[in-house]
Amino acid sequence: MSLIEGLLQTSSTVTLLGAVLFLLVLYLRASGSSSEEQGKEPPGPRPLPLLGNMLQLDLKRPYLTLCELSKKYGSIFTVHFGPKKVVVLAGYKTVKQALVNQAEDFGDRDITPVFYDFNQGHGILFANGDSWKEMRRFALTNLRDFGMGNKGSEDKILEEIPYLIEVFEKHDGQAFDTTQPVIYAVSNIISAIVYGSRFEYTDPLFTGMADRANKSIRLLGTASIQMYNMFPWLGPWIKNLTSLKEIVVDMKMEVGKLVRGLKETLNPQMCRGFVDSFLVRKQTLEESGNMDSLYHDNNLVISVTNLFGAGTDTTGTTLRWGLLLMAKYTHIQDRVQDEINRVIGSRQPLVKDRKNLPYTDAVIHEIQRLANIAPMAIPHTTSRDVTFQGYFIKKGTSVIPLLTSVLQDDSEWESPQTFNPAHFLDEQGGFVRKDAFMAFSAGRRVCLGEGLARMELFLFFTSLLQHFSFSPPPGVTEDDLDLTPSVGFTLNPSPHQLCAVSRI
Ligand code: HEM
Repeated sequence: MSLIEGLLQTSSTVTLLGAVLFLLVLYLRASGSSSEEQGKEPPGPRPLPLLGNMLQLDLKRPYLTLCELSKKYGSIFTVHFGPKKVVVLAGYKTVKQALVNQAEDFGDRDITPVFYDFNQGHGILFANGDSWKEMRRFALTNLRDFGMGNKGSEDKILEEIPYLIEVFEKHDGQAFDTTQPVIYAVSNIISAIVYGSRFEYTDPLFTGMADRANKSIRLLGTASIQMYNMFPWLGPWIKNLTSLKEIVVDMKMEVGKLVRGLKETLNPQMCRGFVDSFLVRKQTLEESGNMDSLYHDNNLVISVTNLFGAGTDTTGTTLRWGLLLMAKYTHIQDRVQDEINRVIGSRQPLVKDRKNLPYTDAVIHEIQRLANIAPMAIPHTTSRDVTFQGYFIKKGTSVIPLLTSVLQDDSEWESPQTFNPAHFLDEQGGFVRKDAFMAFSAGRRVCLGEGLARMELFLFFTSLLQHFSFSPPPGVTEDDLDLTPSVGFTLNPSPHQLCAVSRI
């Protein structure tokens, strides 16, 4: 409120507001009429000038409002985030039809102002066109070369597990917050793949990087940052934006420092990780006279920060949801531990054990389904004019694949709102895949780290449950454990503590 009051105090701002309002009314009218000529637009609530449907949206948890709106307007509808028109896709069938069957049409990224500020169209997450294609392809090849989905990353995760267990053990059954150790462990897997080595949990450079990445994800989900995305001219008055800018400057500086260190010790015959491969490719292209290739410093630094940003918080958060759900549903935790005892005993769980642990596998999938950590995926845009389910969607329209509505689609899941591992089990207790399990999204922009994330979740989760039983702190009952997510770009559990009681 003080922000708006402050704004209104200056007459120049009032003039600016008036001009913006006028232009936007013109814009909304113009975009409406041109689309009508081409075909019907998806229905939706009537927007107000300038504000759009903002007054109807819960800016901290917009996915909840969008799920409500889908009950009224169906599986494809239009909402206005301020002046910006957004098409929302809801339910498994519609999201799949768009992202998979019309993958090219719906496969561009919507780069909102806050992400443009920090990525400037470079890297993987918030890029499009040839640069995105090349960086995504290069990252995928290298993540595979340096471990993703194969023995290399299994070894890296197995190396990390004892460090995480040691931290949990140090709490000696007393209640503690799992955030930092889990984030550090998961962050070290990406570190090993990207830089070629892990960090000590006490290294201030590393803890600074991991804590900052975590903080930035929280800030990105705040209502004021959503306001900035709708009305970028509000930028100078938004405190969270200033904090984010400071974090991003520090992050880029640290990545730059690490990259310079790797450059000094680079051996093209023995690449240690993604950064080395990138530097070698850059050098080779420069030596062959190609001075304006896509392999430039901006693409390197932004790709590295993207891999950390997308790969650390997501996996760490999911793992923490898993531990919280085990503490809440102890009968499910007991069954997982029985299965681990029976199949693995006390030796280290390995990837090849997964096929013999159907119940545990079903529990991990159900954790991801219920945790729903990326409720709106990351917004897409249409890459061309599209006709979809009889509606016209103009090229460049922002599109939200509402993953919550897929992961909780009541025509796909027997009890969408409850934690029920049976969603992924057949009658004989065997594991069954479900097409509507879209925690990693689908199509052209599907999560690039899916293979790695699945491996991490399986190995960390089974190893932790093999060593510990999780329970609420003394004086807190299982029923008291709150499953309401906190606000953020990804959905984290609300702050809580758990006891990790040693089983060995
Ligand atoms: C449980 C863990 C994870 C979940 C649930 C998850 C989920 C997602 C989702 C929903 C998207 C957006 C897809 C879309 O736009 O439609 C995404 C994109 C992405 N993820 Fe993940 N992710 C996880 C782990 C990882 C890891 C470990 C990495 C890194 C190795 C990673 C790297 C990326 C990248 C680079 C993108 C952008 C892809 C692009 O724009 O082309 N993710 N992820």
